[in-house]
Amino acid sequence: MAERKMVSLTIEGRPVSVPEGTSILEAAKAVGILIPHYCYHPGLPVAGVCRMCLVEVEKAPKLAASCATLVADGQVVRVHTERALEARKGVLEFLLINHPLDCPICDQSGECELQDYTYQEGRADSRYRDPKRFNPVEDFGGDVLYVPNRCILCTRCVRFMDDVAHDTVLNVSERGDRALIGKFEGKDLTHPWAGNVVDLCPVGALLSKDFLNKARAWELDRVASVCPSCTQGCNITIETRDSAVVRLKPRPNEDVNKFFMCDYGRMNYRWMNRTDRAESPLVRTEGALRGIDWDVGIHAAASLLRERRVFVVASPKLSNEALYLLSRLIEGSGGAGVFRVDTGDEAPLAGVEDLALRRDRAANVKGAELFGFERSESPLAKLGDGDVLVIADDDLDGIAADDLVRAAQVIVIGTTLPEAAKDAAVLLPITNVAEEEGTFTNLHGRVQRFMQAKPAPGLARPSWLVLGDLLGALGKQNGFYLPSDVFTRIAESHPAFSGLSYDSLGMRGLPVLDSDARTTTRMGEGLGMGQEATR
Ligand code: SF4
Ligand code: SF4
Ligand code: FES
Repeated sequence: MAERKMVSLTIEGRPVSVPEGTSILEAAKAVGILIPHYCYHPGLPVAGVCRMCLVEVEKAPKLAASCATLVADGQVVRVHTERALEARKGVLEFLLINHPLDCPICDQSGECELQDYTYQEGRADSRYRDPKRFNPVEDFGGDVLYVPNRCILCTRCVRFMDDVAHDTVLNVSERGDRALIGKFEGKDLTHPWAGNVVDLCPVGALLSKDFLNKARAWELDRVASVCPSCTQGCNITIETRDSAVVRLKPRPNEDVNKFFMCDYGRMNYRWMNRTDRAESPLVRTEGALRGIDWDVGIHAAASLLRERRVFVVASPKLSNEALYLLSRLIEGSGGAGVFRVDTGDEAPLAGVEDLALRRDRAANVKGAELFGFERSESPLAKLGDGDVLVIADDDLDGIAADDLVRAAQVIVIGTTLPEAAKDAAVLLPITNVAEEEGTFTNLHGRVQRFMQAKPAPGLARPSWLVLGDLLGALGKQNGFYLPSDVFTRIAESHPAFSGLSYDSLGMRGLPVLDSDARTTTRMGEGLGMGQEATR
């Protein structure tokens, strides 16, 4: 592929070189200067309608909209001159004429770009004394409410539906100061990816019904993670309040999900807050499961596993670390490991290549396969008489307790105790994806890290820690102190993961070796661990 020509310019006195065709606004970001903007979003076509991004370009007669003006060699750009500031202040004043300023009851408060830029460079007071325009709140269908009084008509929502979702639902209705966002007759925001309009809206005009009045933005804790709900592996942020997950939002990753996530993944978080969790190690004594110390539980499980054929039914929602350690449990025992996965209809996001809600509704199907687990609709079909059956976070839905009788012993290593496994000999409680750190491998073999967002319930421990200790008790392995230690071991022993580490994965991931993408995507990968701006 031909190299793109580089263009050199200065922005606020800082020299910058960017590829030809870059906008001034994006070039400014490259040197850490955020030019205020509303209609511009890197995941949408440029509209140039809000005029909030005006800057001064030396020798140009007028101020330039930096989102729609491309860089040129030798260009001198000034963002914070009196002329540019005055123009942007004027734009803000017009936007606030009809804005209700109901920040104290607005869900967007604290993460609102109108608030941010007004504080940054708007007027301290309003000169407008007339009654403000009023339009009632409208249900846009799906998860979305529209509050027209707050709308600044940036058209991000319209462009997302038209140009990215390819589903024409929204339009700009009316004109002049009566303009507002309307829905075409008979249409609703029910597209499987429609919820992204709420993230894209820079103000509190589009709200999630699910998140409505749940929390103020400043009460939330945010952690980088990976959506566990299908094999696409969209990068997400898990937001918690008082240790409960209250919202999932997309986290940008050019190679996986751009700036978006689907509604199925977005809404599928309540199970992370389940309260009927396994919270203490249990061992069956005198016919009943009784709580014991971790050491006793680990050694009880190890004594059952010793010298036995081990058969594992694993959830493909478990991390690479857990699945690898489970494969080590089976190793040398003559046993096997299987997994099953819920499926549903595939739902692509038409305007983004290779982005879809995938048929397999679990994050780590590829990881399970790489570690030797076999996909099976009947997970107990190959269970041998006298095997030790390890249920690793499969919920055993559709399986009866009688189906387990061929096993000599049943050990549950899971977040819950499934009804069908209530006669198990040992239960070792583990944390779920929101409560531990680890990695998933997506359908294309991209390995991505997720972080812990909330505390473990009761005495539950991370899956990698429990399984590492179990291998230790079996004499197969020294225990691990960190999930990164487990990953290092995976990279040393599994050819597909060779050369990878938590550090090299960063927070955007890298492909495993058998994936063509590895050499190309590895170049220039950021190792940043924080939350990136979606603007
Ligand atoms: S609803 Fe939000 S995204 Fe849509 S035009 Fe209004 S301010 Fe922009
Ligand atoms: S496409 Fe899959 S990974 Fe992405 S948000 Fe939806 S369910 Fe989650
Ligand atoms: S005109 Fe540039 S961000 Fe709107």
